[in-house]
Amino acid sequence: MRARIVGTGRAVPEKILTNQDLEKIVETSDEWITTRTGIKRRHIAAADEALSSFAIPATMNALESAGMAGSEIDMVICATVTPDTTFPATSTQIQDRIGADSAAAFDISAACTGFIYGLSIAQQFIENRSIGSAVVIGGEILSKFVDWSDRGTCVLFGDGAGAVVLRGEEGEHGLLGTVIHADGSLGELIHRPGGGSRYPPSCDSDERNLNFIQMRGNETFKVAVRSLAEVSNEMLEKAGLRPTDVRWFIPHQANLRIIDAVGQRLDIPEDRIYVNIQEYGNTSAASIPIALDELNRDGRIDAGDVVLFSAFGAGLTWGAGVVRW
Ligand code: ACO
Repeated sequence: MRARIVGTGRAVPEKILTNQDLEKIVETSDEWITTRTGIKRRHIAAADEALSSFAIPATMNALESAGMAGSEIDMVICATVTPDTTFPATSTQIQDRIGADSAAAFDISAACTGFIYGLSIAQQFIENRSIGSAVVIGGEILSKFVDWSDRGTCVLFGDGAGAVVLRGEEGEHGLLGTVIHADGSLGELIHRPGGGSRYPPSCDSDERNLNFIQMRGNETFKVAVRSLAEVSNEMLEKAGLRPTDVRWFIPHQANLRIIDAVGQRLDIPEDRIYVNIQEYGNTSAASIPIALDELNRDGRIDAGDVVLFSAFGAGLTWGAGVVRW
């Protein structure tokens, strides 16, 4: 039994913030952002929009592309660090809105690696036949948690959601494997200290900027290149595949220089590496499912193609997955 991706979907905010717009907010330039990150613009949620504003339509699009009804779904997993509310989980709102009446629903927190963690969990349930289908959503509204006066972080992130429908099928198509890792000793490289039980909401935590993302970008960069290359190789070895077998490599879209460095280390040519960071920025857990949906809807993945994806993020967490389409 394999977990096969039978549908994909995405939804992003209408509002676009360009590098030129950012030049008016902080001391930065289109040239700096483009050469250091590859980002040209990002989609940003409006004040009255939350994660579910995008996670629900992305899930509905994925169901439509799978030709399935929500009532056929057994599990709803939403990977996010920016849910609508701390509780209840945003996945329960998705479960309700799609009419997955008998499904389990829960959120998982693994930052940019969240979508791969979610896939890995769904894969286990499907392969051991506990469930027949699942939706895995990766979505993030990071714009509400960045300090818009900190040029080191506010230029990097964008909002949106992507989703896939997984169904258990016999045969050679589907997830060939996933690997997931973590190293909590590096937690302070990227974190949002406030909002939890350590620094609960208060005037003091607002004043100390604890509710905004804090990141040591340069150190994160080095770990990212190493961990993405290592985990991608580990995934290929585990699946008995070589880099030349890969039709599409979809790395987490955090920085074009990270993507280029990882591509070189893996020896995967540029025309097989999918990049859309120029359009969305870093959408954290949403980056891989958004990219997958773009490729799928553009008809650029053929049946039998091997698709490799890998991500790293706060935690630190990192992981990879490989699919035979
Ligand atoms: N515009 C202009 N100058 C800037 C900007 C900006 N937006 N941001 C930083 N700078 C300046 C710095 O102040 C510094 O100036 P100084 O030399 O005078 O001190 C200079 O540029 C270089 O700064 P660095 O931080 O060393 O720049 P770097 O080349 O490392 O690029 C970046 C920064 C883009 C953040 C990079 O380190 C990076 O992408 N890191 C990885 C981040 C990441 O992938 N995070 C993913 C996880 S997110 C999650 O899990 C939710």
